[in-house]
Amino acid sequence: MRTVLIAALGLTCALPAFAADAPPRPTRLGLCAACHGETGMAQIPGAPNLAGQRLDYLRKALKDYRDGSRNVPLMRAAIGPVSDAELEQLARWYSAQTPQPQAAAQP
Ligand code: HEC
Repeated sequence: MRTVLIAALGLTCALPAFAADAPPRPTRLGLCAACHGETGMAQIPGAPNLAGQRLDYLRKALKDYRDGSRNVPLMRAAIGPVSDAELEQLARWYSAQTPQPQAAAQP
């Protein structure tokens, strides 16, 4: 009985921390995934991997595409007029992914 209680207590404490580590799946992820993959491993030549990239870097990159200070038409079209909340979700999602090994050196 005591063991069960202790285990239950441990679980209650662990849950919020776990939830904070796993960001919700962003609603706009489907579009991004065509090029960057669901888990941030690039699907097409020329697209960068995003998995595990620093959160501050991803956040800044997305803001720079949105306001045009990073002027790459492809990414500017993809990100569009995204809200701050969506931008944050996307940055958190990709930052939280674990990079996977790549099959072979890319050409
Ligand atoms: C049509 C393919 C395509 C789509 C769709 C796309 N991207 Fe990109 N993305 C690229 C390419 C190519 C680059 C490199 C652009 C550059 O040189 O700045 C890039 C760059 C980025 C970068 C900067 C990476 C770095 O290392 O500086 C981020 C962050 C990013 N994309 C996030 C997203 C998100 C989030 C979405 C969905 C809203 C998205 N992308 C949709 C092709 C795409």
